[in-house]
Amino acid sequence: MTTRYPRMAFIGPGRVGRSLAFAFKQAGVDVVGYVGRAESSPPIDNLLEGIPPLQTTEALAKAEWIWLTVPDGQIKAVSDTLPWQPHHVAVHCSGATPLDALSSAGTGGAARVGFHPIQIFSQPTIAAHHLDGTSVGIEIDPNDNPHQASRLAALTDCANQLAVGVGMRPLAIKPGQRALYHAGAGFAASALVSVLAEALDLWASAGIEPAQALTALLPLARTSLLSFESAATGGALDAAVAGPVARGDLGVIESHLTAFEEQGIDPALYCTIGLKQVALMARGDRLNAVTLAAMEQRLTESSVGH
Ligand SMILES: NC(=O)c1ccc[n+]([C@@H]2O[C@H](COP(=O)([O-])OP(=O)(O)OC[C@H]3O[C@@H](n4cnc5c(N)ncnc54)[C@H](OP(=O)(O)O)[C@@H]3O)[C@@H](O)[C@H]2O)c1
Repeated sequence: MTTRYPRMAFIGPGRVGRSLAFAFKQAGVDVVGYVGRAESSPPIDNLLEGIPPLQTTEALAKAEWIWLTVPDGQIKAVSDTLPWQPHHVAVHCSGATPLDALSSAGTGGAARVGFHPIQIFSQPTIAAHHLDGTSVGIEIDPNDNPHQASRLAALTDCANQLAVGVGMRPLAIKPGQRALYHAGAGFAASALVSVLAEALDLWASAGIEPAQALTALLPLARTSLLSFESAATGGALDAAVAGPVARGDLGVIESHLTAFEEQGIDPALYCTIGLKQVALMARGDRLNAVTLAAMEQRLTESSVGH
């Protein structure tokens, strides 16, 4: 075990709590225990193996960094019940929740850290092993202990080192920018899942079995991500757009919309995403303004139900 990290305890052994506790322990951090609710069912995986369950008072007595890995709506309520002391650091992992939710920790003299792994933890046993390369949004309130700049610098250094120790990449979140930051991350995560689910649904309507659909669509999705990465790195996102919008093929768009109408499928998502593609194509010079305007008009008409 290394001594350069503080001792940690997790309150809320859910998907994120178990994954981080596992990864930190693997990296040599002293994870002294976790606190669950008495009425909770035991975790169904072995990520907490070797990490003991504790009472809240024991966790606060044994650990310095206290991770509140509870649902967002519970962070403030749980924090408000804890006997914070100045040697504690209160941490939450929410992307959307301001550090204000930990105000009771601040009142007790503890420092406050937001440590939001930019990863999806729906399957913790997968996520816990894939933190390498994951970025983590880190926020440390500069108003905590304003007279102790050295403590804040040490805290920032510790949070960054902790991230790096498990292969994560620290990303500083500017105070007050959490909502946009979190909404953007959601587009790269569950919004992608929803779009892929829509693809499966459309293929199901076309009579294609889910297993076959997955086999066919995943390589397409993966290559689209690689293409996006290349285009975004080159600063020209229109280069990653393919399909009828990229070709300015209004006829194919028309055939899609007709099929939706015939089968009673709501075209709203198709039109919204199509309009975003038109906007991306407008950044480049592959299509002329007349073609772009025609597609925009047609997609707008269908999106508002005309
Ligand atoms: N899931 C993700 O992909 C993801 C990604 C990044 C960040 N986050 C953030 O990570 C945090 C945790 O999310 P999660 O997905 O891990 O949630 P989760 O799987 O629902 O886990 C929450 C855990 O907290 C426990 N809990 C609830 N109230 C409690 C209380 N009063 N005292 C002690 N434990 C309590 C729950 O117990 P029960 O099982 O008994 O309810 C559960 O073990 C949230 O702030 C979330 O925004 C989540």
